[in-house]
Amino acid sequence: MKALILSGGMGTRLRPFTYSMPKQLVPVANKPILTHCLENVRAIGVEDVAVVVGDRAEDIRAVVGDGSAYGLNVTYLQQEAPLGLAHAVAIAEEFLGDEDFVMYLGDNVLADGIAEPARDFLADRPAARLLLTKVDDPRAYGVAEVDAEGRVRALVEKPQQPRSDLAVIGVYFFTAAVHEAVRAIEPSARGELEITDAIQYLVERGDRVVAGEYSGYWKDTGSPDDLLDCNRVLLRGLHPGVRGEVDAASTLEGHVVVEAGALVERSHLVGPLVVGAGSVVRDSELGPYTALGRDCVLEDAGIRDSIVLDGVSIQGVRGLSGSLIGRSADVRGGEATGRRLIIGDHTRAEVAA
Ligand code: TTP
Repeated sequence: MKALILSGGMGTRLRPFTYSMPKQLVPVANKPILTHCLENVRAIGVEDVAVVVGDRAEDIRAVVGDGSAYGLNVTYLQQEAPLGLAHAVAIAEEFLGDEDFVMYLGDNVLADGIAEPARDFLADRPAARLLLTKVDDPRAYGVAEVDAEGRVRALVEKPQQPRSDLAVIGVYFFTAAVHEAVRAIEPSARGELEITDAIQYLVERGDRVVAGEYSGYWKDTGSPDDLLDCNRVLLRGLHPGVRGEVDAASTLEGHVVVEAGALVERSHLVGPLVVGAGSVVRDSELGPYTALGRDCVLEDAGIRDSIVLDGVSIQGVRGLSGSLIGRSADVRGGEATGRRLIIGDHTRAEVAA
């Protein structure tokens, strides 16, 4: 089996981060989302992966390289614009040949891996196997109608009146039958070649399209709150350990990771949390549920339930929570009595009244 990982797109919902990095590279528990995807496809025995990239191809290449760090052979496929998920399959047709493949959206987090659905797919190789999950508001998703045998009867994108509460997750298993379907469909009203239309084509043609509920944790990381939710879940799964330096005046509680070259002094750390390599934490309170990137400096700071990217400095500010702080940001307590913000386009600040 091969894999097709989609890492193009615009990432508008994750601005301002996506002005300077593709959303698939935003870290969760100190690892880019895309890395979690690559690890999941490697874990099911896949070696040959095509990564579909858009405008931010260079950033993705810089992190993933030739894939050897993950035990993979990675090929890059340039998509000239985000013309749809089925368009990504179309440009990958030559790479995929007549092999089975897993298509994985590079912004989806499946914390419990994809071994079970991969096994189910390989057991009888239907034209397509979808992963579903129950959601509160199916109108925001692709929704599947499935019969008692797990066979998909219909698939509708963002239905106004959903006929089930089973949303389609961004990981799909296909045989080469899907290529004919992709060739047969036309762009949708929003101008994209929709994978739901290709799958619906297979259903209507009488091909076997099946679906099963995913039993693990899943999140489509469209927004900052989604990222923070994933961060909480993935931090719980890290192996605790101190490879950096923690002085005797500091206390550590729970599941704490201090990476090599990090320094913690006179601070209170409550896990689950990770302090990235080369970061310095002094006279601060950290955690729980906090991922601090590399080479950050925290002094006289307090932060919990947050994602802090590399090179951030936080000094003299306590009580931060639910925050997502971009690379090399400088957050500091000022002398002034008022509040001062120097923040970029589409930034969001919530300041206590
Ligand atoms: P979307 O959720 O549509 O991603 P987006 O980046 O367009 O997000 P936003 O709505 O915030 O602007 O797509 C899901 C994933 O598939 C995401 O990782 C981007 C990728 N993708 C492509 O690689 N090519 C495409 O043509 C499309 C539509 C998405």
